[in-house]
Amino acid sequence: MTSRPLIAGNWKMNLNREAATHLAQELAGAVGAAAAFEMAVCPPAPYLVPVAEVLGGSLVALGAQDCHAAASGAHTGDVSAAMLQDVGCTYVIVGHSERRADHGETDEQVRAKAAAARAAGLVPIVCVGETESQRDAGTTLDVVGRQIAGSIPDGLDGATLVVAYEPVWAIGTGRTPTVDDVAAVHAHIRKTLSARTADAPGVRILYGGSVKPSNAVELLAVANVDGALVGGASLKAADFLAIARSV
Ligand code: PGA
Repeated sequence: MTSRPLIAGNWKMNLNREAATHLAQELAGAVGAAAAFEMAVCPPAPYLVPVAEVLGGSLVALGAQDCHAAASGAHTGDVSAAMLQDVGCTYVIVGHSERRADHGETDEQVRAKAAAARAAGLVPIVCVGETESQRDAGTTLDVVGRQIAGSIPDGLDGATLVVAYEPVWAIGTGRTPTVDDVAAVHAHIRKTLSARTADAPGVRILYGGSVKPSNAVELLAVANVDGALVGGASLKAADFLAIARSV
């Protein structure tokens, strides 16, 4: 990995305009050029523009939580990658487990979204992760390997792709895998990525799922963990900054 670890905040469907811009302001004021990490925040779609205005000129990048695979057209309620790029996004999360579960998104659809993101000049953060029953059945590496193979377009590299490993059972639950389990999955992802990109070593692989200030140091120290995708703990500036400063 050549770039700095990425600490990305997934605000999900939380906050209002005032709270979102206030949080962005606190982060923008706290992240300096000497930071050992890169920071990004992914607000709900209606707040992308006001948050972009607050982040302008700061070192905190903007990301979205999803995009449609098509460039434009008759897709009521959806947002294209080009629109996200137009309002200042650098990143877009695709294939988050909540979208896979709530909207039935398949690997193939996630791959199309990631390709659309790239075509629009965004960096997709492609999410993968096993459910609790898949982990209990001992199929974690198979499941995650299959998701990587199916969800990632060809031809991306460390500058154009981020992967996030998020065990579904660890999201929002306060539970995390052991550091050995995280190491095993991240090593497997790195290996599987080499079939999709010549630059597998350069792709940042984030860990996500109940990352908080108290466990960030140990999770971020695991081999092949190149940052974190943070949900609940990204909604408080102090907690999110504490996580970022754990790299
Ligand atoms: P969590 O969410 O940090 O609240 O577990 C992580 C995510 O879903 O990206």
